[in-house]
Amino acid sequence: MLSLSNIAKVYGEGKVKTRAVNGVSVEIGAGEFVAIMGPSGCGKSTLLNILGLIDTPSEGSFLFMGEEIARANEKRLTQLQREHTGFVFQNFNLIEELTAAENVEVALIYRGVPGKERKARVAEALEKVGLGAFMKHHPARLSGGQQQRVAVARALVSRPKLILADEPTGSLDMANGEVVMGLLSEAMDGGATVVMATHSQTQAAKADRVLHMLDGRLEGMPPGPARTPSWAEDEAPRRNVAAFPLPWRRRS
Ligand SMILES: Nc1ncnc2c1ncn2[C@@H]1O[C@H](COP(=O)(O)OP(=O)(O)OP(=O)(O)O)[C@@H](O)[C@H]1O
Ligand SMILES: [Mg+2]
Repeated sequence: MLSLSNIAKVYGEGKVKTRAVNGVSVEIGAGEFVAIMGPSGCGKSTLLNILGLIDTPSEGSFLFMGEEIARANEKRLTQLQREHTGFVFQNFNLIEELTAAENVEVALIYRGVPGKERKARVAEALEKVGLGAFMKHHPARLSGGQQQRVAVARALVSRPKLILADEPTGSLDMANGEVVMGLLSEAMDGGATVVMATHSQTQAAKADRVLHMLDGRLEGMPPGPARTPSWAEDEAPRRNVAAFPLPWRRRS
């Protein structure tokens, strides 16, 4: 389903360049549950952003369901993202102006789901994460853990083939963490592929495969190029994803 070959993401300009992802090659099959572990700053979010078509790689080849991402234009990337992916952002990335229900509904509007069905599915998704009573609350009136659960509901409500979850239980107590893990596992029973960044050994143990990341590389991979090629020189610095509420794709 996902095939990465020597993928790199370079941030910054001139002398202060960071190779946040540095020569990653990996295959992820349909229906697989893959956990990514590694210390803070090792590149987990950057890699998930690439896998979820939020960000494009600076180097390398990425086949997303057989399609070469380097050759896809902005419109196609947005289309693939909306049709096939659900993303739980590390910083939740909810739209401040919208209620919890409206935030979740956005994912269904993108999929062209009719209004009546949307309402029912949104209510069901928020019930499942224990937020049935908070449908009309705006993010500012929700706790961090509640916002994270809205983000989970938004990612899962459209029943995407590919779920990217960036530390999806990082702000949750144990009971709510279990609920979220249960929902991910339910999605996998329905055939979804899940790639999840986590610091939790317990959660990683549930995955089919654990990828260990360090300094932008996956364990067991040879070092990438030491020098940034000239065509990656003018890569714009990453902008805060929260500044791009809709669509979720970053422009680079
Ligand atoms: N916009 C940016 N400009 C420059 N460097 C960046 C930018 N965003 C991320 N980085 C760098 O890329 C590297 C990887 O960051 P990333 O967010 O992917 O790490 P992470 O593994 O998700 O960390 P955490 O566990 O803290 O979430 C870090 O060194 C970080 O400083
Ligand atoms: Mg991260």
